[in-house]
Amino acid sequence: MTSHFLKSRTLWISVAVLAVIGLFGAFLLMWRPAIDPIERPTTFDTAQLQRGARVVEAGDCAVCHTRPGGEYLAGGLPLVTPFGTLFSTNITPDKQTGIGQWSLPAFKRAMRQGIARDGHFLYPAFPYVHYRRMSEGDIADAYAYLMSGPAVHAPALQNQMNFPMNIRPLVSFWNLLFLHGEPLKPVAERSEAWNRGRYLVDGPGHCAGCHSPLNLIGAEKSSEYLQGGSVDGWNALALIGMGQRANPWSREQLVGYLRADVVDGHGTPAGPMRPVSLSLARLPASEAEAIAEYLLSLQSPHSVTETTPTTQPGPPADHSTGALLFTSACAGCHGPAAPMREIDGRPGLQNTSALQASSSRNFLKTVLEGVPAIPGSPGPVMPPFAASLDSDQLGALAAYLRQQARPDQPWADLSSTIEALRQETK
Ligand code: HEC
Ligand code: HEC
Ligand code: HEC
Repeated sequence: MTSHFLKSRTLWISVAVLAVIGLFGAFLLMWRPAIDPIERPTTFDTAQLQRGARVVEAGDCAVCHTRPGGEYLAGGLPLVTPFGTLFSTNITPDKQTGIGQWSLPAFKRAMRQGIARDGHFLYPAFPYVHYRRMSEGDIADAYAYLMSGPAVHAPALQNQMNFPMNIRPLVSFWNLLFLHGEPLKPVAERSEAWNRGRYLVDGPGHCAGCHSPLNLIGAEKSSEYLQGGSVDGWNALALIGMGQRANPWSREQLVGYLRADVVDGHGTPAGPMRPVSLSLARLPASEAEAIAEYLLSLQSPHSVTETTPTTQPGPPADHSTGALLFTSACAGCHGPAAPMREIDGRPGLQNTSALQASSSRNFLKTVLEGVPAIPGSPGPVMPPFAASLDSDQLGALAAYLRQQARPDQPWADLSSTIEALRQETK
């Protein structure tokens, strides 16, 4: 009787001790201290501010931290993730609602570890996985630039994350698994441009955030680096083996594309790539040239770059509806004699990545959403057609244009892709 009592008591004590150790471990993993608030610094060196402006541009900070119609860097842009909707925050130097009380060490910790000044975990939708690879100097310059800007009062919006992702400390487990990269060091055997390109791609440019496939909990699959991902219903195509494709990219084409030009043979960036390319266009051309140098050095591990979808040969399709729709809705801009093509020397649609890709998604997304103008430039704009074309019309148009571009490989999945895209945008 006594011995049984003793045994169960020892058992209970062991369980209690283990539980305390476990809780303590979890506490250590999930708790971060606050970093003391400071008075906003006000004097900065002009050269540093100029460098900082370029870092903020290369890091696309404004792309996520400015909502349409909102104030520069004041946050409030919704980011729709598979785990719920998250809003970017105010990174202007406002004392109450922005980062006005953040010291440089607090800012660095956020950029490298994803921890806010008060100690709370930030969601990895903020690409600190990549920013942690940036140099000390770049982070300090970005900090100076942000601190020198106008303070905007803009309180954070309420996130709508699903359970269990609404519990922020759980991000610590994600970090434990996926937060490993070190600040990038130059590779001695490679040119300065190549090293610069790699730095821009893997550090501030966070290209793999969209161009690598993600796993089930939203982390990049490092074994499939830059092998193609998807974002907001668009395909972000593979950035490896770009010079070895059936329709290869030249260096010149790639530099032009990265700076939002319309490039014969590949087209122009649309969708989520557009703001990225507009940022690059505002930087010196040497930055896009460096990126091209690096990307063109990445070989594809597969000998065939584009997988050919299997299509069942059916009866020859009738493309008269598609051809008619093209004449009425598109030819005014994209037809052979359209002023946009004759005056501006724009290439025809058939050689664009949108129409050459094995998936119809990017073509369909471009037509549904249109292509907005380049801010401050009088260039032509493509209107969105989501409301004016119904699904059958869109399907007929896509089949017709694909037939012009790739007669050997019709898109097999058109009506289901169109339905999926319409569902996703609801
Ligand atoms: C892909 C979108 C995206 C980009 C690009 C991005 N951010 Fe963010 N950032 C976010 C989101 C979303 C949050 C809020 C995360 C959260 O609440 O957990 C955030 C939070 C932050 C925070 C924490 C602010 C706070 O109030 O807690 C800082 C600092 C920050 N970002 C700085 C930057 C800088 C500097 C850049 C550019 C180098 C940048 N971000 C680029 C999405 C982005
Ligand atoms: C926010 C997501 C996102 C980020 C970040 C991003 N891209 Fe893209 N990228 C896309 C999408 C989507 C497309 C397809 C656009 C289209 O079809 O118009 C694309 C297309 C491209 C293409 C054309 C590929 C082809 O074969 O047609 C290149 C090149 C490219 N991106 C390079 C980059 C580089 C370099 C970076 C980093 C500096 C980068 N991207 C960052 C989403 C992104
Ligand atoms: C008012 C002029 C206008 C009309 C009408 C128009 N577009 Fe466009 N389209 C543009 C502009 C501008 C671009 C961006 C590329 C450029 O500047 O040449 C573009 C780009 C595209 C692209 C992306 C090509 C690339 O460079 O990657 C596709 C695909 C496209 N349009 C298809 C269509 C289709 C299909 C229609 C008819 C339903 C249509 N467009 C109607 C002006 C127009």
